[in-house]
Amino acid sequence: MEYKKLHPQGSEFSRIIAGVWRWKDTSRQQIQSLIDSALDAGITTFDHADIYGDYSCEEKFGEALKGNTSMRTNMQLVTKCGIKLLSAKHPQHHIKHYDTSKQHIVYSVEQSLKNLGTDYLDLLLLHRPDPLLNPEEVAEAFSLLKQNGKVLYFGVSNFSSAQFEMLQSYVHAPLVTNQVELSLFRHEALFDGVGDVLMKHRVSPMAWSPLGGGKFFTASGQDESTQTRLEQLAEKYTCSVSQLLIAWLLHHPSGIFPIVGTTNPERIRESAASTKVRLTRQDWFAMLKIATGHDVA
Ligand SMILES: NC(=O)c1ccc[n+]([C@@H]2O[C@H](COP(=O)([O-])OP(=O)(O)OC[C@H]3O[C@@H](n4cnc5c(N)ncnc54)[C@H](OP(=O)(O)O)[C@@H]3O)[C@@H](O)[C@H]2O)c1
Repeated sequence: MEYKKLHPQGSEFSRIIAGVWRWKDTSRQQIQSLIDSALDAGITTFDHADIYGDYSCEEKFGEALKGNTSMRTNMQLVTKCGIKLLSAKHPQHHIKHYDTSKQHIVYSVEQSLKNLGTDYLDLLLLHRPDPLLNPEEVAEAFSLLKQNGKVLYFGVSNFSSAQFEMLQSYVHAPLVTNQVELSLFRHEALFDGVGDVLMKHRVSPMAWSPLGGGKFFTASGQDESTQTRLEQLAEKYTCSVSQLLIAWLLHHPSGIFPIVGTTNPERIRESAASTKVRLTRQDWFAMLKIATGHDVA
């Protein structure tokens, strides 16, 4: 496994990250097994959000960490805040909405720390751009959380390049990532300026749904010839199609960190080995052509 900084001023994260969004229906024992498989394979970074599993995933993960301080020391915990769901746990929410107020950011971090059973977060992300976002309030919240050691680094998710630049102009510490949807078949961020602005700031993106949320593997998700061409390329690199798709992201010079969402311990191990697959430039473009159906201009 490779370990790399998201930004020159940040700390190191594992290049492949385990996302816990789909771990919501898993038992405590299964969560333990997923964490163990990830750590055994060198995946030390875990991506959470306050809302995952109707506000339950962080707590279940925290249960698995209980009493094992060395495990916490050897991992990096990422979580997000800013979305408020309609939920029996929050009867005061009358509509799904965003809240990036200072009060909510600080409250949400306190809750995440309690749920995860830790006294610091390695990285906090604003989950979605909020039309009512007040950048001065966000900057104050981030400064406070940094000062009291509750959060080491900050970033955003699903931000446009303009939104990223705007917030960065208010926040004192560097924003160390923008976590966006990114895969061979959803590659807009590599062409619409989002990736370029991150490179300008020496920031690496995190890629959510790097396997299209599993659509690549369903009968309706891909046509047969796409599958066949990807399988042929995978054969050439002696790897699986999943590894090929992750390697396509890893090849990009912005230093993308793919977040895999599997609930299968064996697939977690397999994804870790993607870092060994080195595509040629021409095969990178061949894969792009498989996705778009045409040559570049
Ligand atoms: N910031 C955001 O707004 C945002 C949004 C969405 C997600 N995320 C983050 O990104 C993470 C990953 O997202 P994701 O779960 O959509 O990622 P993904 O890795 O693209 O998709 C995971 C899905 O693909 C299936 N899959 C993987 N390999 C497979 C194979 N070889 N054959 C059949 N099915 C396969 C998995 O099923 P199995 O479980 O059976 O392996 C799972 O259902 C999430 O956990 C979350 O942390 C962030």
